[in-house]
Order: sequence, then structure tokens, then C-alpha cells
Amino acid sequence: MSTQKNSSGEVQQAIMKGAITREYRADARQVIQRLNALRSTEIMSYLQYMQHQYMAVSLLSPALKTEFQTHATQELDHANRLAERIQQLGGTPIYDPKEIAAKAANVGVAPEQGATLTDMVVEDLMLERQQIEAYTALIREIGDQDFVTRHMLIAVLAETEKHANELAAYLKRRK
Ligand SMILES: [Fe+2]
Repeated sequence: MSTQKNSSGEVQQAIMKGAITREYRADARQVIQRLNALRSTEIMSYLQYMQHQYMAVSLLSPALKTEFQTHATQELDHANRLAERIQQLGGTPIYDPKEIAAKAANVGVAPEQGATLTDMVVEDLMLERQQIEAYTALIREIGDQDFVTRHMLIAVLAETEKHANELAAYLKRRK
């Protein structure tokens, strides 16, 4: 396996570390923890949107049911993108449902199902805004220490902001 150019120690190190080089400036273990915490809120968000999608049967708002479904699919995609990065950094995406629920509860996130469509949209808006804050804070903290994580987080943040804007626009029209 080793060549003259690379000592076997260097090759071993490369195999162990994969894409993480000495230029990676973040604390990977800490980043993994933060990504797992965010991912737990994405899974809760998925469950909440799906619940709202099941319950939104009003003939007055067929568009809302579709909107809940679209958002749910995107929340699951966010969870998947976070999991992919956790794996790349040498971590394990949390898969114990109790641990996922506990991590989300730690930051005040649990799926809710309001009595009316408007209540549900408010719940979704509050959750999206909570996530916007969490993503923004982590992106700022990571700075230039881990570009790929930062890039992924910014992409997810952009979609999260879009969701929040859509939900707020719906609620403004209802007033
Ligand atoms: Fe999301």
C-alpha cells in the first residue's frame, strides 16, 4: 500500500482521517454534536409538517395541504444533508428516536398540532424561525474553519428562510 513517497504512517493517517487535513480548523467532534442537534430539530419539523398535512382537510385550503407536504419533504432532505456531513466528519447520525427527541427538546422543539389551520401555520413559522436562529449562529461560529459544513448550512438556511417567508405571507393574508 505505501509508496516511497509516503510513509506507511502517513498513509494510515490519511485512511483514518479521510478528507480531514491539518487545514481543517474546526473541532470536528463539536461540529458533529451541533449538526446532530440541528438534525434532531429537522426530524421533528418533518413530523410536525406531516402531521399538519394529514390534518389539513379543509376544502377551503387545499393549497395548504400541498404546502405542508412540500415543506415536510424538504425538512427530511435537510436532515439527510446534515447526516451526510456528520458521516463525512467521522461521526454517526443519531438514530435512537428517544435521543433524537431529547436533543430536540433540549432546544425547545417538539412536534405540535394546533386546533386550526392558522394555529398549525403559526407553529410551523415559530419552528422555522427557531431553526433560522440556530443555523445562523452556527454558521457565524464556524466562520472559515470548515467551508463544506458552512456551505451546506447556508443552503439549508436559505430554504428555511424561504419557508418562514411563505408561512408569514400566508398569515398576513389571513389578518
Ligand atoms: Fe428544515
